[in-house]
Amino acid sequence: MASIGIFDSGSGGLSVYRELKKILPQERYLYFSDNAHCPYGEKTAEYIQDRARTITDFLLEKGADIIVVACNTATAAAIATLREEYPQVPFIGMEPAVKPAALGTRSGVIGVLATAGTLKGSKYLHTRGRFEDNVSIVEHVGEGFVELVENGILEGEKALDTVRASLQPLLDKGADIIVLGCTHYPFLQPLIQRLAGPSVQVIDPAPAVARQTLHVLQEKGIPTGKGPFSIELYHSGDPESLHRIYQLVQ
Ligand code: DGL
Repeated sequence: MASIGIFDSGSGGLSVYRELKKILPQERYLYFSDNAHCPYGEKTAEYIQDRARTITDFLLEKGADIIVVACNTATAAAIATLREEYPQVPFIGMEPAVKPAALGTRSGVIGVLATAGTLKGSKYLHTRGRFEDNVSIVEHVGEGFVELVENGILEGEKALDTVRASLQPLLDKGADIIVLGCTHYPFLQPLIQRLAGPSVQVIDPAPAVARQTLHVLQEKGIPTGKGPFSIELYHSGDPESLHRIYQLVQ
């Protein structure tokens, strides 16, 4: 049984946990929601690196064998630093799924929804640069999406208006694939899909990240399976938002 540490600025990383549990159902999970410091989207890289270090120390102390940075913003700001400072620890990061979108688009336009921090990160800009000769990549910050999810508002008029305001500009530009570049956004995916219509594909990268985690565990020779399954939920702020979203991924 592996001990898999996962962290995010809040409950969003549970969208990655949901996929991990499907293919690694018999592990010990340690989930840390940094919700006292959420959102990360507009914070400086230094701030996020500090948080990432503190959380990594905590998860290692609790016995994590591997750490999934289940946050695109924290990956962009801190994963290189973490890999440098903790060379013995395997880290798995998140990145907007531009490649599958670029390969799948029929209109030649793909839309990326992410935080400001992710969209200006060098990792994303590099990936974008690799594909933008062949496809047009349009972006929008999911303004207010993280707050909706943290407050458990996944349906209704407020959610609809908030999501439409950031999604519509991408649809207006002809995007036929929408990439969810923030781990909170999959909790709004039913709403996003409804607003975008059936001809638009919405991509959540979490299944690919879960497969990559399994691959790295095997590569490092960290034993998996046999159980028992367990999960420990940790939070730096109010427990309620985390427990509310956890109900959806059990
Ligand atoms: N869930 C996060 C991400 O994937 C962070 C959102 C935020 O805190 O702004 O980017």
